[in-house]
Amino acid sequence: MNDKELVAFEAARLAKNGMVIGLGTGSTANYFIEHLAKRQLEEGLNISTVASSTISAIKAENCGLKVVSIAQLSHIDLYVDGADEITSNLSLLKGRGQDLVMEKLLAKAANQFIVVADKSKLVNRIGEKFIIPIEVIPSAWQMVKHQLEKHGAEGDIRLNASKDNVAISAHGSYILDMRFPEHINDEALNALLNNTPGIVEHGVFYGIASQVLIADNGNIEVMHTQKPL
Ligand code: 5RP
Repeated sequence: MNDKELVAFEAARLAKNGMVIGLGTGSTANYFIEHLAKRQLEEGLNISTVASSTISAIKAENCGLKVVSIAQLSHIDLYVDGADEITSNLSLLKGRGQDLVMEKLLAKAANQFIVVADKSKLVNRIGEKFIIPIEVIPSAWQMVKHQLEKHGAEGDIRLNASKDNVAISAHGSYILDMRFPEHINDEALNALLNNTPGIVEHGVFYGIASQVLIADNGNIEVMHTQKPL
């Protein structure tokens, strides 16, 4: 097992009979889906899942998991997802793909949000390696960009894969990919983005994760917050 699969395997062990489990998006989340399905098959677990993306829903169904619509749920028991960046206070950067609206909705609605990643995701500050993805109401993208530039942000609207049009997220938003000055810490960045009209959602996950499982060459380190398992 590589490190991503190892943490996903460990997270799948947290599933219990009767749980509603949220499925993240990405390569580590894919391993989680596979190991969850394996446990369901081998142990006869009765679980329902809800997916953060179409691609994860397809994978889960192909693996034999029951996938329910988010519209049927008011909360979930456990959400497991990867991340692009993780700080020591469990702030995350997510949404390299285009599914962060649903990812944050599920992460916030979960009794436990377990992050699974390998050591390469650890950073000293959010935005150290990746740009911050910000989903915006399409008609408001220039206004939002201008507002953020007043705080020293730099960046632009994301283009599609063939670079001949703007990218559209799974939620139907445009996406701004922005860098912010280092003096704006994760708490301040989260507040700024939460308080800027026109922003639908953004990739800074501040104070949401319950626990982070980090794999490093076959060993797992557990990073905690105040919310115990
Ligand atoms: C998608 C995400 C992913 O969880 C993040 O990009 C990590 O992906 P991977 O597990 O493939 O490294 O936030 O929006």
